[in-house]
Amino acid sequence: KLYVHERKPYLFGMPQFNPYMLENLPDCQLRDDDVILVSYPKSGCHWLWEVTRLLVSGRTTTDKVNKENAMMEMSELEGNGSIDDIPSPRILNNHYFFENQPKDLLRKRVKTVLLYRNPKDVAVSFFHHHTRLQNYCYTGRDFPSYLHRFVDGLVDSNCIFDWLASWERAINEHKDLNICIMCYEDLQENPLAEFRRLAKFLGKDYEDDHLQQVIKATSIETMREQKGFLYSDNSGAIMFRKGKVGDWKNHFTIAQSEWFDHVTRTRMGHSKLYNFRYDL
Ligand code: A3P
Repeated sequence: KLYVHERKPYLFGMPQFNPYMLENLPDCQLRDDDVILVSYPKSGCHWLWEVTRLLVSGRTTTDKVNKENAMMEMSELEGNGSIDDIPSPRILNNHYFFENQPKDLLRKRVKTVLLYRNPKDVAVSFFHHHTRLQNYCYTGRDFPSYLHRFVDGLVDSNCIFDWLASWERAINEHKDLNICIMCYEDLQENPLAEFRRLAKFLGKDYEDDHLQQVIKATSIETMREQKGFLYSDNSGAIMFRKGKVGDWKNHFTIAQSEWFDHVTRTRMGHSKLYNFRYDL
């Protein structure tokens, strides 16, 4: 079941999403020490949000979570005005296109972290998210038809290729965008170097030992253990499912993979941001 925003062509999958944030977010007041984390769904935002929070705070252990503080400062789920109630430093997390972001992002040069992931793995992860998260009321069960929905953008947050294009345009056009671009596959391959790069962007300089502790505290096993109970299947298998690079190979047929590559090249071939390694 998809909820279409009345005035903007934007899709939501869960009734808990507050569609009016889409209208209100551009005018929300950002603070100088805010960090905005943007990603297309299923690109690893739960992971990077936790990492960013630890890097900003200098801590190496995560907070105990409960239903009240579990929302990861996710703008889509906040009620109107409640973003203002979040204490600083805020790591505001959302899946919106650049056009829907707070205007203060550019005005105040607020630190923005963009996370992206190989769209094939995103498609697989989103498929499991749709089928397992009860709120979605998604009754489809087969991956091939889901894949067509995904490519057509009939999923929440619309089409991944449009999302990436929106941000790439913004990066090219707005030199005031204070942005750090992170890639899920690079985070997996070299967490120490990537966490250090992110820390630097956040104005922090940590010893390797410290970063190693952050890596451990944010491993998928730790996160599943600490937060898994928050989701509808109670096991963590939705938000902390496999956490691997290349799971698409277990789901795509060769023909689907070739078709998807063709679509991707057509949509993203000219893109600099789009530098996914096809052999992942
Ligand atoms: P998979 O479904 O491929 O396993 P999001 O947080 O944006 O919803 O993204 C969810 C994806 O990130 C899931 O991918 C999930 O397993 C993976 N993920 C979550 N926590 C992770 C972690 N600590 N390390 C690596 N991957 C993680």
